[in-house]
Amino acid sequence: MPDTTAQAQTAKDPIIIQFSHVVGADTAKGKAALKFKELAEARTAGRVRVEVYPDSTLYKDREELQALQIGAVQMLATSLSKLATVGGSDFEVFDLPFLFKDHAAFRAAVDGPVGATLLRRLEPSGLQGLAFWDNGFKVFTANRPLLSPADFRGIKIRIQSSRILVSQMKALGADVSIHPMANVYEALRSGQLDGQENVPTNIYSQHLHDVQSHLSVTRHGYLAYVVLVNRQFWNQLPYDIREALRLALHEATQYANSIAEAENQRALELLKASGKLTVHEPTAQMLALWRETLAPVYRQASAWIDPAMLAAIRASSAGAR
Ligand code: LMR
Repeated sequence: MPDTTAQAQTAKDPIIIQFSHVVGADTAKGKAALKFKELAEARTAGRVRVEVYPDSTLYKDREELQALQIGAVQMLATSLSKLATVGGSDFEVFDLPFLFKDHAAFRAAVDGPVGATLLRRLEPSGLQGLAFWDNGFKVFTANRPLLSPADFRGIKIRIQSSRILVSQMKALGADVSIHPMANVYEALRSGQLDGQENVPTNIYSQHLHDVQSHLSVTRHGYLAYVVLVNRQFWNQLPYDIREALRLALHEATQYANSIAEAENQRALELLKASGKLTVHEPTAQMLALWRETLAPVYRQASAWIDPAMLAAIRASSAGAR
């Protein structure tokens, strides 16, 4: 059998990094993946070639993690909600409703010991977490106005695979359905689903406004990613290549985190301008009702989320500016 490890590559035979993800190239994650490609290829003077596959063109949500574990791809940027299956249930803590007041609060949590602890927990699954990439606050869309929690009764909402998101939707009285990102448009179009939650960039980029008539700017939950690689692949890289890639990723991470908020703001404006859906901005009074309705999720989640992890996140976020 030919030796296909990274060490066996010659200068003429570049190391290929297949970077798979499930959203559009025109989102913060999509742009950051391309930035990483540009920086990684420049810093390694062509010894590494990065092939970015957006929009689930290679693998959908769950499959991409399996593909990374067996080395069929080398790199992903997977949402925190989806990492519980490979890194343990504490990854779901970020799904708790209204946990972060702003982007800085999220970053303060993951840039410290909490982030490092979580990344280490991916290692037994053959994965190496390298960075956290920001995205932003989720909003709800549906084919009816969602102005208060009562409006969720009896409708079917798509969520990512996270028990906290299941609890969240149950607290609102909705039915839940877990779908990979790639299937959401069709499930909404066909009426299999009534609504979904996501960040504006994903809604716009997946054209969900073509199949949804209302959007509520609830900012009730946070979406962010871990950039991760196959650990064996990473450890077998020549030292100088690995360090060059680390540096490239560091810069791509700064880029991702610097554009995420503005990208979502821009996408929200584009969604409004599309005229295809009505955008509702909840009043402070309505938001207070959302918070109250979703508060029991914290108690339920304490059955599988380490309270010390949640306390550490709250402590770091409280100091964020
Ligand atoms: C989702 O499935 O809604 C998100 O994880 C998609 C993404 O990667 O932003």
